[in-house]
Amino acid sequence: MIDFEALAKEYGTPLYVYDFDYMSAQYTELKEAFRGRKSIIAYAVKANANLSVVRHFAKLGSGADCVSIGEVRRAFLAGIPAYKIIFSGVGKSDDEIREALERDILYINVESEAELQRVEVIAQELCKAARISIRVNPNIDPQTHPYIATGLHDNKFGVDLSSAKRMYIQAKNSKYLDPVGIHFHIGSQLTQLQPIREAAEIVADLVRSLQAIDIELKFFDVGGGLGIQYDNEETIKPYDYAQAILGTLRGLDLTILCEPGRFLTANAGYFVTKVLYEKQNGEKKFVIVDGAMNDLLRPSLYNAYHKIEAITENKGPLQKVDIVGPVCESGDFFAKDYLLPELHRNDLLVIHSAGAYGFGMGSNYNTRGRSAEVAVENGEARVIRKRECFEDLICLEQEFLVD
Ligand code: LLP
Repeated sequence: MIDFEALAKEYGTPLYVYDFDYMSAQYTELKEAFRGRKSIIAYAVKANANLSVVRHFAKLGSGADCVSIGEVRRAFLAGIPAYKIIFSGVGKSDDEIREALERDILYINVESEAELQRVEVIAQELCKAARISIRVNPNIDPQTHPYIATGLHDNKFGVDLSSAKRMYIQAKNSKYLDPVGIHFHIGSQLTQLQPIREAAEIVADLVRSLQAIDIELKFFDVGGGLGIQYDNEETIKPYDYAQAILGTLRGLDLTILCEPGRFLTANAGYFVTKVLYEKQNGEKKFVIVDGAMNDLLRPSLYNAYHKIEAITENKGPLQKVDIVGPVCESGDFFAKDYLLPELHRNDLLVIHSAGAYGFGMGSNYNTRGRSAEVAVENGEARVIRKRECFEDLICLEQEFLVD
């Protein structure tokens, strides 16, 4: 049990708190699910890029899935070995591609024919053969929120099957390209197994047809996307997930690469915020807290549900409230019509499932400094990121101020 009151007292609010032991347990469960096959769990750094979080996964033996050279640098800094780092994303710049090749990471996930050409040109300049994998878009509906669906032809991600085949042939015939893997990622917060199985089946068939023309791949990269419980939704068990994927690989000797983000960190994280005021506007009751959409954007952006727990002396009857922050937007809310007991100034609200896509999607909107982040491990708490102060927010502008 985490003592949120003690942490809020010591480190102030709003505050992100991460349970590192929970992260370890999630990592181990998923890694175990793939036992019997070679596998690399490459933590999707975007879910929570804090250096200490990435370091924690590095110590567990994790690799890293990165979507910018900034994330690649973070992974290196956190101690992830180059041979477990992969670089994905639809719009990599030349500089990013060059640095990734110079750093000799495991492979680059290529997302278009045009990008493949850039990788080839840059690899030639560096006199290297670039290890690549191609992201295939299997045109499968993942049955998730449309903003986080990525495996349909309507989405900007990956290439269709026939383009992928052409690209592999091109890569195979190039001195500067070394096709080592194949990749798909159909979406995030997946709670249905069937679309994953279908996608894996399609991609495994492509691997077989490549084998027939002498293109031998080593890595079967199944992306991330494993859903978690925000509320009471049914989710996929790691064991069933692994079995569904492995079941499509009959006769193929491939190392599984898996890129989970949310599954590893979401339910390890809590966003702790303090009640400032309660107010009634006609029928509507608002609880105004010190955290806001700039700290945790998911409710505003996706209308996402996050469970909220009140830490209060008051055990009285429940009331329906909107929980809102101080930012000047009507969209600045954490929940609407949520049942909570009557609250008093300085009571705490703990927002659950905030460890993935929480801090990382934060901003300084309204010139609000971002929260501190605290890790709890073996019963001990420690700061892993300081609270931002006003000077941090203006330091890149101040020198340009003219009369
Ligand atoms: N691999 C690729 C290629 C991805 O695009 C993503 C997530 C992942 C792995 C990790 O997915 P995960 O295991 O975390 O589902 N901001 C949204 C989620 C965006 C996900 C983007 N891509 C949210 O807050 O729900």
